[in-house]
Order: sequence, then C-alpha cells, then structure tokens
Amino acid sequence: MLTLDRSHLETLLVEEEKKFLSDHPKSHALYQRARKSLHGGVPMLWMLRWAGRFPIFVKEGCGAHFTDVDGHQYIDFCLGDTGAMTGHAPPATVKAITEQARKGITYMLPIEDAIWVGEELQRRFGLPYWQFALTATDANRFAIRMARHITGRRYILVYNCCYHGSVDESLAALENGVVGPRHGNLGPPVNPAETTRVVEFNDIPALEKALEACDVACVLAEPAMTNIGIILPEPGYHHALRELTRRTGTLLIIDETHTICAGPGGYTAAFGLQPDMLTLGKPLASGVPAAIYGFTQEVADRFWAMLKLDEADIGGVGGTLAGNALSIAAMRATLEHVFTPLAFEKAIHQADRYEEGVLAVIREFNLPWIVKRLGNRVEYWFRATPPRNGSEAYAAIDNELDRYMHLYALNRGILMTPFHNMALIAADTTSEDVDHHTRVFRQAVGSLFG
Ligand SMILES: Cc1ncc(COP(=O)(O)O)c(C=O)c1O
Repeated sequence: MLTLDRSHLETLLVEEEKKFLSDHPKSHALYQRARKSLHGGVPMLWMLRWAGRFPIFVKEGCGAHFTDVDGHQYIDFCLGDTGAMTGHAPPATVKAITEQARKGITYMLPIEDAIWVGEELQRRFGLPYWQFALTATDANRFAIRMARHITGRRYILVYNCCYHGSVDESLAALENGVVGPRHGNLGPPVNPAETTRVVEFNDIPALEKALEACDVACVLAEPAMTNIGIILPEPGYHHALRELTRRTGTLLIIDETHTICAGPGGYTAAFGLQPDMLTLGKPLASGVPAAIYGFTQEVADRFWAMLKLDEADIGGVGGTLAGNALSIAAMRATLEHVFTPLAFEKAIHQADRYEEGVLAVIREFNLPWIVKRLGNRVEYWFRATPPRNGSEAYAAIDNELDRYMHLYALNRGILMTPFHNMALIAADTTSEDVDHHTRVFRQAVGSLFG
C-alpha cells in the first residue's frame, strides 16, 4: 500500500500556492483592498476556508460554470456549498424574481404563490403543514422551539460531528464520551451539555439510552450525515430511530438541507422516512434566501392549541422577512421549473460518471482511499473503509492533503467545496466537465504518488 511522503506534499503545495498567486493578480488586488473594510478581507469568515491564501473573486456564473475577475473559467463542483445546486442563475428563477421584484419584495402579507409552494411541499415530502424561514439554520431553530414548546422538554439530541447551521444547541460534541461545545464553537451561550444529548450516528444502544428518560424534545438528524463527509445509515438504523423516538414521545426532525441531493423529495421520499418535522434551506429558491419547515397534523394541532396569537410575533419562531414575496416567487420557480425530477436524473447520471472516474484512479494507483456518494453528491476519502460515525470520519481528515487536492484542482479550472473533498453535480454539469475533473484528479494523484 502507498504511503504519502509529507515533505514532498509540502513542496508541491508551495508550488501550487505560487501558481495560484501569479494566476490571480486581480483577485489578489481586490482581496488586499477588501482587507481594509471587511473583517478578514471577506464578507463572511467561511470564505477564508479556500485553499489559496485568498479567495478568488467571481465575475459571473451560469449553470455549472463561472468566471473570475482574472478571466479564468471554472467548473463549479461547490455550487455555493449546495445553495446553487440548481446551477447558477437558472432562467426560470431569474425571470420569476425579476417579475416579483418589480411588484414588491416584502409586504408582511402572503402572495398566492405561497399556497402553490405549500401544496408542492406536501406532495414532495408527505407532510401536511409548512412554514417559511430564510435560512436552514432558522428553519432548524424554529422546529426545535416548536418541539420544545409542545413537549415541555429541555433537551435535544444530535449526532456527534453533525452540522445543522449556527443553531446553538447543535454545536455540541462528544469528548471522551462527555458532551461539551464542539471544537470551533464561538462564544456558546451556555455549555451545550445543558441543552443537548449527543450520540454517535448508527449507534442504536446509545440512542436508546439517551432517549430512555423521556426528557428529549426532539432528535435533529440528517438522514445520512454529510457535514463530516457522507456517512450512510446502516440497514435498520432508520427503523430503530423512528421506533425509539415514537416510543419515548420524542419528535423526529429530519434536516434535508444537504440530503436533498438524494432526489426531488430528499432522502425522506427516496427511502420512505416518516419524520414528525422536516427542514430544508439552501438550494430551495436557487440561492435566494429561503427555507422551510414542515410538520405532521399532530404537531400542528398540539402547537396550535398552545399558541397565543397576540404573542405570535415575539415567541422566537418566525422573522420579519421570512415568507417574503421574493423568496416565495423564487421557491415556486425553482420547484416548478428547475428542481424537477428530470434535473435530478441528469445530475445523478453525471454523479455516477464522476464516481466511476475517481474510483478508476484510486484503483490504478492502488490508493487506500474510497468514494462515497449520495445522489448527486460525491466525495473521496483518505481512508480504506467507510466510516460508521462522526468520530471515525473526523479521524480521517487530512487538512494538508485536502488543501493540496483542492488547490491543484482550482489551479486547473475546478472548484471543489472547501469543506472536505465533496463535489456537487448540477443538472448542467456535462460529461466533459466530469472527465476534466477525472484527468486533473489523476494528475494530482500522480504528482503525489507517481
Ligand atoms: C444539514 C444542514 N442543515 C442546516 C444548515 C444551515 O444552513 P444555512 O447556513 O444556510 O443556515 C447546513 C449548512 O451547511 C447544513 O449542512
């Protein structure tokens, strides 16, 4: 089996950094200017996670491609970390938001399209009632609040190494079996041990033990973990999760924000899950801020019975711009014309090709690496077997190798997601795009192990 020469990797990384700097003079100049007014030189700190020493500045994007201010063209396998999974600027959404913007952007009143969206969400996800938010973080926060309110319970339960947005209760992790703030948690309001139970994914006995006191309001779960890399549920896991949550009166919230990659109705529809609540954001309105949370008749009835309408605007659920007309118009256009079953079929077909290409290289070089895929989301891992849970996945992270693979790709016209080695494939991604990635991936591997 091959071993990685670390000093060789370091030398290669320095060469790629030099190439990146000399190829991107305009982005570099803009970054220097940005540092004088934007904290860290970026509008949002995550944009410092890119593999170069500074982010490239975008000129414009269309479908699965974009150009930067230095005139380079890129195949976009990041797609706004799922926010642009629809492809950039899909014509139907652009038309709908242009028309709606002319008529008004937000009114604190509904527009008729909201009902169309609610009905379509019923059809796709099988839950009868829906509410809108602006981000998946907010959708999760609102769903958790509803769950706490109606159950009267304090705790929520999440998986170790999960990510559900900047939801305070979910930024928790296990350290030697004890719950505390996860690494990188900035200014937690309280120790998450006070609000949160954490178990490893795929561990049914741990889940049973964590729920047995019947003091957990809800489990907030991705149906397959994605944010520490793709970790698929083991056979029977979802059955046990549903059975245990029902038996203990715990509500089950399924967060489909990333697993929507599994198909038009997300993992829930593809695998017949029956959550009490479901949340989704990011690509739902082609990148226009919009999110949703849906729930069963029973949840709706329990919540409604306890709601004081005079205080509905100060209860911590909802927001001034949630359900605004622009987001609703964009959601309708996206669901009706862009995020169609055919679009998923095309994207998943190209994801197959991507997976096969990467696997062929791994076999050719006899690498101890694997590829994981869920729908149109594919990623390669620097370990020989699939991880079962967050801890195993976390142990496989190799930041330096990640950076090299990303920068090598970026320098050759390929944008990968800055968090792990994930590629998201759009309906507009072509076979040539995928084959270009396979060639570049092979060259990168060759430079390391050739
Ligand atoms: C599964 C999941 N849920 C929720 C979120 C939060 O999304 P947003 O940052 O758009 O609020 C994320 C973000 O990555 C996510 O991966």
